[in-house]
Amino acid sequence: MASHFLEIFGFSLLVFVSFVSGGPADDVSFDQNYFSLWGLNHITRVDNDKEVQLLLDQYSGGAGFRSISEYGSGKFGIRMKLPDANSTSGIIICFYVCFYSSDIILTSAPDSSNPGNHDELDFEFAGGGLQTNIFAGDSGSREERYQLWFDPRKDFHLYEILWNPYMVVFYVDKIPVRVYKNYTDKGVNYISNPMHTEASVWTGDWAGTVDWKQGPFVSSYRRFGIHGCKSQNTSMNQECLSPNLHWNLQKDLTPHEQKMHQIFREKHVVYDYCLDKERQQNHPECQLPRN
Ligand SMILES: *[C@@H]1O[C@H](CO)[C@@H](O)[C@H](O)[C@H]1NC(C)=O
Ligand SMILES: *[C@@H]1O[C@H](CO)[C@@H](O)[C@H](O)[C@H]1NC(C)=O
Ligand SMILES: *[C@@H]1O[C@H](CO)[C@@H](O)[C@H](O)[C@H]1NC(C)=O
Repeated sequence: MASHFLEIFGFSLLVFVSFVSGGPADDVSFDQNYFSLWGLNHITRVDNDKEVQLLLDQYSGGAGFRSISEYGSGKFGIRMKLPDANSTSGIIICFYVCFYSSDIILTSAPDSSNPGNHDELDFEFAGGGLQTNIFAGDSGSREERYQLWFDPRKDFHLYEILWNPYMVVFYVDKIPVRVYKNYTDKGVNYISNPMHTEASVWTGDWAGTVDWKQGPFVSSYRRFGIHGCKSQNTSMNQECLSPNLHWNLQKDLTPHEQKMHQIFREKHVVYDYCLDKERQQNHPECQLPRN
């Protein structure tokens, strides 16, 4: 399956490799946009602070970092490499964009009984597989899971989230893997609060049992540039919805993105909450065109 995808996208992927390796503007030092949030003695900086490694062992609860600013729209991304272990069962490695909240670490857990009402867009490797979720002023439960066409432990890959007034798009190495449209006019919840970006590594029973003999587990992050509209307030800065910001111009996927998205969806989606009979009835967006 994986090689099939590569064949279809052989050309596109080659074209994208130059982008994925990161423009110099994005290759800034960690401190320019981020700070260490927790697990401080388990965060290592390398390559002149252009790379940060988060270490997880049985003595720590994990580690994480967060953007200094809050944003009201933008295209956020990070290059991430997973721990080189045979099994990352029980380990959650994530990159997310979320609404400011002091207990966000707890409420981010998909199985949390008290997830609160907040906004959050996340890429989450749980037990080795990639999933995304969307909380839009609610308790989320919009999980999707994917089978990737590469081994995320072997190299850095680019994970990006576009968030503008029209849509939220999750990209993996520039391939749109998920689209969530702004259907507020049809009564569907949409992201509406300023958010920051965050990355973390931690453990959760719901993701399996950790085999500590495989550890310590080190995940690495690069590309600390952020293209976003700062919104220091708890209420949304209206300027962040302005068409003068280039990431706010894209109302739909381009035809090329559309094609890649379609093939990705056909071949790589392992779980889709909208195809889950128990879940879909609570989510009106499942009845609407998704891209
Ligand atoms: C969502 O779309 C509506 C128009 O349908 C617009 O008024 C609103 O500002 C958008 N929401 C966000 C957060 O961009
Ligand atoms: C991972 O698996 C390989 C092949 O099965 C084995 O040789 C290696 O020892 C394993 N590594 C760990 C840390 O368990
Ligand atoms: C926060 O928002 C309020 C109301 O929109 C505005 O009056 C105030 O200037 C904003 N503060 C900052 C720091 O942006």
